[in-house]
Amino acid sequence: MEKSKNRPRILVIHGPNLNMLGKREADIYGKSTLNEINADLIKRGEKAGLFVEAFQSNHEGAIVEKIQQAVEKYSGLIINPAALTHTSIAIRDALLLLDIPIIELHISNIYKREPFRHKSMISDVATAIITGFGAYGYAMALDAIAGIIHP
Ligand code: DQA
Repeated sequence: MEKSKNRPRILVIHGPNLNMLGKREADIYGKSTLNEINADLIKRGEKAGLFVEAFQSNHEGAIVEKIQQAVEKYSGLIINPAALTHTSIAIRDALLLLDIPIIELHISNIYKREPFRHKSMISDVATAIITGFGAYGYAMALDAIAGIIHP
């Protein structure tokens, strides 16, 4: 196994309330906890030769700062900005600093839900969008990034 520091680094950002996965509206978001999702991503990353780092915050500014710090450090980003998807021009502007594949991810299908969730501030600056596949969407996003990095 390649040493973790030599593997391309992938950042996964989880927005507000995603720390409550498993307890939160399980009919919409499923039963997996954030720890389970992150552990699965780290394991899948190892198999794909990637080093996965996960970050969760309930604060817009903390997410903006994490994105700013990601410049030139990571080879890919998976981001579920949660409710901030629909409101945050600050996150959108921060994403424009990055020159790496960005996958916007939603556990639920945001287009099947309330009209206020149909608008995403970041879709047009993301490389691709995964929405509605449940927690499995994270595995899909990592696979997609692996495919982009090691075509
Ligand atoms: C979400 C969808 C958002 O509308 C919502 O505010 C979330 C989670 C999703 O993963 O389906 O918190 O991003």
